[in-house]
Amino acid sequence: MRFTDKVAIVTGGAGEIGRATVRQLAGEGAKVLIADMADDGPKIAQEMLAEGLQAAFFKVDVSKEDQVIAMVKAATDRWGRLDVMVANAGIGGRGRTNETLLADWERVIGINLTGVFLCSKHAYAAMKAGGGGAIVNTASIMGLVAVAGAVPYTAAKGAVVNMTRSTALDYAKDGIRVNAVCPGFMESRTSVVVGPAVVKMDDLVARHPIGRLGKPVDIAKAIAFLASDDAAFITGHSLVVDGGYTAV
Ligand SMILES: NC(=O)c1ccc[n+]([C@@H]2O[C@H](COP(=O)([O-])OP(=O)(O)OC[C@H]3O[C@@H](n4cnc5c(N)ncnc54)[C@H](O)[C@@H]3O)[C@@H](O)[C@H]2O)c1
Repeated sequence: MRFTDKVAIVTGGAGEIGRATVRQLAGEGAKVLIADMADDGPKIAQEMLAEGLQAAFFKVDVSKEDQVIAMVKAATDRWGRLDVMVANAGIGGRGRTNETLLADWERVIGINLTGVFLCSKHAYAAMKAGGGGAIVNTASIMGLVAVAGAVPYTAAKGAVVNMTRSTALDYAKDGIRVNAVCPGFMESRTSVVVGPAVVKMDDLVARHPIGRLGKPVDIAKAIAFLASDDAAFITGHSLVVDGGYTAV
């Protein structure tokens, strides 16, 4: 029970990786604010409460600063502190560089990069008041390597990896660690576009040395590790969780 008496916010908490993360943290004792735009968010919180886990839902668009401020306030008003911020909300973003509309670029950057920045920005005061904390950003292996035809997404995720280092330096003296996870391909996919081609799932699995694609719980456990005191000497790091895909 690494998160007893700790308060966490998970953005994108109603999504695939977010839901697994919410359950991982709450299962280890955390009080978790499920922060998402999705309509099924309240139902997830109700189900968890019925199981004796501590959770609440807050509707947020992480690309809007006033809403991120309100999200942090909702957690601290409800539970009195903030120990863990998982900035996980994100959307896909395909497009060749020469064909990407500025509006599409700005939408992906607004959620996948600005949204992560705003979470780090506004978690700071609440975490400092409580004597420290841990921030975990969900980047992607597409922040470390690239595929053709996904410029807004790879740009945003690459920026999250380096912003994680930068914010880690800004917050280190305040006892606030800042790390990222870089998930690879998840098994919930039915097909995947890599570059110009649609890759068959069998072919994609064959590119993974571990022999399977990722499960949400694989990512959730890595996030929980980085958020916990087990990672007390780790900051500014981006942890690859991809079954060896990028090691090849
Ligand atoms: N699934 C993958 O293959 C994969 C791989 C690498 C990285 N990631 C990253 O993991 C994170 C979670 O993705 P997922 O696979 O769980 O996807 P998902 O679509 O299941 O979940 C994303 C969640 O974010 C929420 N969201 C979207 N825009 C939002 C906004 N503006 N404000 C608040 N919430 C918003 C959605 O409602 C959704 O619940 C994302 O950052 C994604 O880029 C996913």
